[in-house]
Amino acid sequence: MSDTNNEFPAPRKTPGSKSNGRDSLGFFREQIEQHHSRFEASIPLIASENLVSKAAMDMFSTDLHNRYAEGLPGSRYYEGNEDYDPIEVHTEELAKKLFNSEFADVRPISGTAANISALFSLASPGDKFMAPELAAGAHISTQRFGAAGLRGLTTITYPSIHETMSIDTDLAVKAILDEKPRICYVGQSVYLFPNDLKPIVEAAKEVGASTMYDGAHVLGLIAGKQFQDPLRDGMDLITASTHKTFPGPQHGVIIGNHDVELPNGKSLHKTIRSRVFPGVHSNHHLHKVAAFGVSLAEALEFQEDYAKDIISNAKKLAEGLWNRGMKVFAAEHGFTESHTVLVDVTERGGGADVSKRSEAQGLVMNKNMLPGDTSAVNPSGIRLGTPEMTRLGMGADEMDEVAELIHLASLGGKESEVRNRARILKENFCKIKYCWESKDNAYAQPKWSEI
Ligand SMILES: Cc1ncc(COP(=O)(O)O)c(C=O)c1O
Repeated sequence: MSDTNNEFPAPRKTPGSKSNGRDSLGFFREQIEQHHSRFEASIPLIASENLVSKAAMDMFSTDLHNRYAEGLPGSRYYEGNEDYDPIEVHTEELAKKLFNSEFADVRPISGTAANISALFSLASPGDKFMAPELAAGAHISTQRFGAAGLRGLTTITYPSIHETMSIDTDLAVKAILDEKPRICYVGQSVYLFPNDLKPIVEAAKEVGASTMYDGAHVLGLIAGKQFQDPLRDGMDLITASTHKTFPGPQHGVIIGNHDVELPNGKSLHKTIRSRVFPGVHSNHHLHKVAAFGVSLAEALEFQEDYAKDIISNAKKLAEGLWNRGMKVFAAEHGFTESHTVLVDVTERGGGADVSKRSEAQGLVMNKNMLPGDTSAVNPSGIRLGTPEMTRLGMGADEMDEVAELIHLASLGGKESEVRNRARILKENFCKIKYCWESKDNAYAQPKWSEI
């Protein structure tokens, strides 16, 4: 770190629309360097973020980035994919091996694009779609103003158990039998505890509904066999992002097991293929597919240990906060079984205030709604995640120190003290683990081209 005082440098002024191109290039480079320095000296605790390994990241800057590969390997609309096609085939093979599945489509470019592809495969406008409540951790793509609404679906929410932010299975089964939805969706952005999937799958079968598990947050925990196994529990599909607890590139995936016939008589897997392309995508970002392939290969070796450590760190972090008097959510249930910890910070100024104050002190987190909240802008909670700090090798002792820093920051403690302690703590944790290790710093400055 270059700066020696305790403040992060303020972002630079943009060069403005009248600047010349070189000024803009210089601005982008410097601003990115500053971003790297800031993260190197911070404790990133965003539950949906992670660090891709250097071996996977190498794939980003290859010529694959410049190419198109519409269609499927061996049957493309463009030429020039001779060498790329086996890469996509092998990435799918690795996904199927890791998730013990029969089907994988590695082309969706994000979790949302995977969800949209699945919704357009499974349902038609006017159909009913069952999903968790927003205030119980659901993602916006399940709502009227998200992907579900875009498909013209009517979202009906499962009754939830507010103390654990999970689906109330008994009531959900009843609701499925009453409402007869087209899709029963399970998945959350605040995913503290696994849901009981089998009764939902059985009820869905009874009413002829398809089942879809959005594993965006917990894909890495599923891959590491530490959360739940939605395909073995009978879900038709898993859709997911590949960059949260699964430490891959920012991309998406759809995984399935046994093919099923949809109400229109078509095969589910074939329909997914055609909705991913040409339905939702044209280009599917080939460099990210290759990076996902590398991440899958690494996960086959490292993900089980990594997933175990993510969860034990989350529990330690929660305990540390609780021991310091912070209102950690779901205390009577052991706080969490995942990578996420939720804290009610009403008494310390609310989620917006605490997350902003913490950021200035080097602790990066997000404000989050708690059950009963009505404002997403000014909610009562903060959401903390352990994927990134675990990936850098932090364990129980460090989680306790992080808890102390969050406690001090949330009380509005002396900025310089908290900020300095965060920086010192981070100094020894800047190498990416649970992968084929590189000697490079995780936040090393980019190597710019000489021009
Ligand atoms: C449950 C859930 N589904 C889907 C998404 C969207 O994923 P992406 O950001 O990859 O589009 C998220 C993002 O956080 C999520 O939490």
